[in-house]
Amino acid sequence: MLKGKNIIVGVTGSIAAYKAAYLIRGLVKKGANVQVVITPAGKEFITPLTLSTLSNAPVISEFFSNRDGSWNSHVDLGLWADAMLIAPATAATIGKIANGIADNMLITTYLSCKAPVFIAPAMDLDMFAHPTTQQNLDRLRTFGNRIIEPAEGELASHLIGKGRMEEPDSIICVLEHFFAEQKDLREKKIVITAGPTYEKIDPVRFIGNYSSGKMGYALAKACAERGAEVILISGPVSETIAHPNVTRIDVESADEMYNEAMSVFPHVDAGILCAAVADYKPAVSMDKKIKRESSAELTLQLTPNKDIAASLGAIKKEGQVLVGFALETNNEEAHALDKLKRKNLDFIVLNSLKEKGAGFRCDTNKISIIDQKGAIAEFPLKLKQEVAVDIVDKLATLLL
Ligand code: PMT
Repeated sequence: MLKGKNIIVGVTGSIAAYKAAYLIRGLVKKGANVQVVITPAGKEFITPLTLSTLSNAPVISEFFSNRDGSWNSHVDLGLWADAMLIAPATAATIGKIANGIADNMLITTYLSCKAPVFIAPAMDLDMFAHPTTQQNLDRLRTFGNRIIEPAEGELASHLIGKGRMEEPDSIICVLEHFFAEQKDLREKKIVITAGPTYEKIDPVRFIGNYSSGKMGYALAKACAERGAEVILISGPVSETIAHPNVTRIDVESADEMYNEAMSVFPHVDAGILCAAVADYKPAVSMDKKIKRESSAELTLQLTPNKDIAASLGAIKKEGQVLVGFALETNNEEAHALDKLKRKNLDFIVLNSLKEKGAGFRCDTNKISIIDQKGAIAEFPLKLKQEVAVDIVDKLATLLL
């Protein structure tokens, strides 16, 4: 699973840095290409010579290696990697990466890295248990970073507790497992809709909804990380995405989203329709601001929008896969199944507003995936990044 994978190993200043030597040797033995990036403090614990000998490549530590104008590009490194592993990760490095304090090569590389990041903390038990460290780790989890929990045992301080960096073999297993589960989507093209639509009432008002785009953007990232070319058609959101595989098309209204989706869909392998598209728009949108004339009621006449999912379902060709979402408040499964059939979807992702932590705006979601046979797979509450991986796993089984 690791053969040919490009892995950045970040080493920071911890006594557990000696384990990085075993880790790197293990990764290289499995056929991975390893590039070590070490912090200045890391070099106090293990020499670059040891690490470069084991990784068969010069260790990177400084932005400028020679005083001849040459420099190490953290951006190129970030794009080269299939995964980045920071092991050992000290409390200081965890705090810096959680807050974007880019004062060494390892951290700038982390910030430029488009690949999945794994972090194996190593520190004393009280440092690990401290709310600051835990909050920083939680923040990194919300970025989609995977934390490889430290083990319990005797620490460098001779105290016993949780903080020992996980053993190299176990870390390698985590990576192998990750790559084994990741069905490669290279050479696949996927269109994803995300966010809300705004339906214009007049120049200052619109009909919208609470969608933040978080779920759709997490899906775009998950597909891109597996090598797919992603076209992300996004309603107005404050989410951002910077991945070379993602092309973002910004739209505002359901009509605009429909036009973009219809023109892109014939050229892609799959569509994931995560946007919360307004079902109705004002029958007439005014050119001038509607004035409050008196206390009389104002009636807004609405007309239905085109159903993007149903329209794509109608033109879907053999071999294309179409995934929809269903956001429900009652009779969830029956409604979702009905949408799956009506819109000619291959599977539908049901999220219910009745579930705490699911649906709009939050960083988590709780989903069920319903397939064409009506089989239902339920998933626990997870971060939207993790939910996206579950959905892309399912998509990959149909695409490959
Ligand atoms: O953006 P977040 O804050 O992270 O929230 C994520 C989410 C809750 C928006 C997302 O998980 C979700 O449920 N998206 C679909 C919301 C929705 O509009 O559901 P629906 O049951 O009304 O629509 C069913 C399906 O038809 C959806 O795939 C929808 O994109 C699609 N649809 C609906 C109407 C329409 N005119 N065109 C469509 O394509």
